[in-house]
Amino acid sequence: MRLHVANHPLIAHKLTVLRDRQTPSATFRQLVDELVTLLAYEATREVAVSEPPIETPVAPTVGLTLSEPRPIVVPVLRAGLGMLDGMTKMIPSAEVGFLGMKRDEENPTQQITYANRLPDDLSGRQCFLIDPMLATGGTLVAATHYLAERGAKDVTAVCILGAPEGLKFVEENLDPSIKFKLVLCAVDEKLNDKCYIVPGLGDAGDRLYGVID
Ligand code: URA
Repeated sequence: MRLHVANHPLIAHKLTVLRDRQTPSATFRQLVDELVTLLAYEATREVAVSEPPIETPVAPTVGLTLSEPRPIVVPVLRAGLGMLDGMTKMIPSAEVGFLGMKRDEENPTQQITYANRLPDDLSGRQCFLIDPMLATGGTLVAATHYLAERGAKDVTAVCILGAPEGLKFVEENLDPSIKFKLVLCAVDEKLNDKCYIVPGLGDAGDRLYGVID
């Protein structure tokens, strides 16, 4: 696994406001959007490109353009949806698939897949999985393997926060034949006994969309 932790004062500043329990949902959503746009810059560093010949008003030259097949961005529902606009702003030609996975609250190391809207064939596609919180790592590993079962071989995960336990789990459990990169704003201290990231920012889905009982 290749890991990139964004180390930048603007990111640290936005993250601080995001963590604050007093920050209202509207501001939280806006900050997630801004952070993802910054992370997308690093996450797409190796996006596939081709070099078409073009003519400027002055001279012929060779340009650089995203190549086919188009990359696919896959938010993990529900919290990953809050990161979608930030990603598609940076790669507007990307296709978007959806994966509904949630952790089984009775058994927090297990995942339940409750929705999927993805092409059957992902071979040759660069996939960008977006999910704000890498806690146990179980969802990220399950989601990456789900994409790999459809032929994806190149997956970049974009998260806001990670826990050391989750990073270790991903390192130890991800199929090593998948080219996998992880881009994060920060790695926090630990998980608590409810598998929340400490200090973290709480439940990302609830903070983005409010609590649904
Ligand atoms: N999911 C969240 O939304 N927050 C955490 O801290 C861990 C998992």
